Amino acid sequence: MNHRSIALLFTLCGVPLLTTLQARESSVAAKAAPNALFEALRLTIDLKGPTKPFGPQFSGLMTEEINHSYDGGLYGELIRNRAFRDNETNAEAWSLSVPSNVVATMALTDKFELTDKLPKSLDVVIDKISKNQSVSVSNEGFYGIPVKPDTEYKVSFYAKGNNAWEKKKKEDPDPVTFREPLSVSLQSNDGSKVYASAKTAPLTGNWQKFELTLKTGSEITPSKENKFVISASAPGAFRLSLVSLFPPTYKNRPNGNRIDLMEKMAGLHPQFLRFPGGNFVEGDNLCDRYDWKETRGPLEFRPGHAGCWKYHSSDGLGLLEFMEWCEDLGMQPVLAVYAGYSLRQQPVLAGPLLEPYVQDALDEIEYLTGDAKTTHWGAIRAKDGHPEPFRLKYIEVGNEDTFDRGKSYDARYAQFHDAIKSKYPDLQLIATIPVTSRKPDVVDDHYYPAPEWFVKEFHHYDKTDRNGPKIFVGEWASRVKHVSAQTPNLGEALGDAAWMCAMERNADLIIMQCYAPLLVNVSAGASQWSPNLIGYDALNSFVSPSWHAQQLFNTHRGDEVLTATTDKEDPANLLPYSVTRDKEKGLIHIKLVNIAPTTRKVTIDLGKETKVNPNAEVVILGDKDPKALNTIEKPEAVKPVTKTISDASSDFSITLEPSSLTIVTLKTR
Ligand code: AHR
Repeated sequence: MNHRSIALLFTLCGVPLLTTLQARESSVAAKAAPNALFEALRLTIDLKGPTKPFGPQFSGLMTEEINHSYDGGLYGELIRNRAFRDNETNAEAWSLSVPSNVVATMALTDKFELTDKLPKSLDVVIDKISKNQSVSVSNEGFYGIPVKPDTEYKVSFYAKGNNAWEKKKKEDPDPVTFREPLSVSLQSNDGSKVYASAKTAPLTGNWQKFELTLKTGSEITPSKENKFVISASAPGAFRLSLVSLFPPTYKNRPNGNRIDLMEKMAGLHPQFLRFPGGNFVEGDNLCDRYDWKETRGPLEFRPGHAGCWKYHSSDGLGLLEFMEWCEDLGMQPVLAVYAGYSLRQQPVLAGPLLEPYVQDALDEIEYLTGDAKTTHWGAIRAKDGHPEPFRLKYIEVGNEDTFDRGKSYDARYAQFHDAIKSKYPDLQLIATIPVTSRKPDVVDDHYYPAPEWFVKEFHHYDKTDRNGPKIFVGEWASRVKHVSAQTPNLGEALGDAAWMCAMERNADLIIMQCYAPLLVNVSAGASQWSPNLIGYDALNSFVSPSWHAQQLFNTHRGDEVLTATTDKEDPANLLPYSVTRDKEKGLIHIKLVNIAPTTRKVTIDLGKETKVNPNAEVVILGDKDPKALNTIEKPEAVKPVTKTISDASSDFSITLEPSSLTIVTLKTR
């Protein structure tokens, strides 16, 4: 049976469904494991045998707008619903505070559009107010607003006062024209602490952009139970649009990313970024697809759109920002284009109807790679702030088109393939499922099974046809259905480590692989999927045991896979392993994954003639409790421990701890 038909995890609108066969296999593996995993085994490494080189971008990141990955996550913006587009009727995340004896209201309006893309504004009408009183509108942020000491926050917003002609139209009460300044501040939710404040110039009757800095003092304790406040102390009406608050960002990029999350990603040494989905590229409906043209240019012209993960996307982190994210972390972009299928079964069939979407993809490629002087979209990119073309090698045509019940992908893929290859012959194309109409360069496989399945499928790709397309494992994670927490526990991380061994041993076939999803805001109500690699709330972040496992694999890889075998390769006895070499440094990395709750002895045999330095590094990621997790409160509950052994040789034994990943690094000269 084709490996993909066995192994693809089918997911519909985010609900994972294991195939019956796969589910049955998982439970067999789970039963077989406990008896057999006590057995000692011998790992024989053939230093002269065939090797498999790692490709230049074996390990990367996968991202989409899910779990508040960008808005309320990586994207630095702290104001939720900043452009009043999240909800058509309510000013979600905004509230009005009116002291007693003051009369004021707040409402969304589309009477005063800032641009045709941002038609809504917040209309605040103060009918009655006395001296020394003020009316405040405040934003709650994304599950809080982080405030830290000695920090500069950049505020910007558009505001305008009401005009005389509007005044005439209004009935009783009749506000006066508002030409006063507004105050902005960062405050604790109860208003008892004001961390920083500033004042605008007086408003006029036209939209004006105000830019201010809020600087906190050194005495404050970091917190997230805060709000951003705009207040007025005079009667009249004023309107607000595109209200923004940015903390310092990674590499100080304007409109940039959250520093701690970028650092955690950088720590993984990722070689590529697959974006913008995932389901997010497809959207629930055609109109909700990732329409890249609406995600570029000044923020005033980005309308945002309905995401497929139950919340609105501001698209403040838009196409150019994805590319800057790649630049900042030295990653190759792997760009997924909308390919004519949205999740609620709305295929745009191949032929003339699909043509505009194929053209959109061609435009997108030109926007990213075209010359700034000689191409239309290259010139627009330059105007958007990036004159240099980006390097682009891989384009993925769609996402998980296996769910298109009309089976239209083969023909849709062919149309994209022909159009892209004829204009950009050097681009490598990734199909989301096997196709017969054309030969794609790469096929993307996705897996979300239980950890045991990954252990059992250690040999999964060993026999795959090497003459077919290369494989991109574009989404994978072990997950225990209905049990997984927002981030993986140690047991899941060990399943992931087993799968990384299975992928490493097939590095000649698997050219890229990335875990999914990458990010999760762990605040109550913020996430839609479990588990995810890196967790955070508005203030703090942490990495999961699986992040550690991946980080260890990425930093103990070298450049080639060595031939190795064990004397226990049968599924019941199997202990996932991978042996790789760093030729230049003469290092051999041996990864061993013991998912059993007991120790296991492994003898490592490199052949008598091999000279091995007796001092070797051993890194262990483990815990006696496979359910052990990292959390905001205990971010380092599970983390690797490094030690040195002094008895390494060409034939030596080590005892693996229960529930652990062990990486032994030997020096061979
Ligand atoms: O990673 C979460 C979702 O799983 C992705 O959006 C989708 O491609 C897959 O089904």
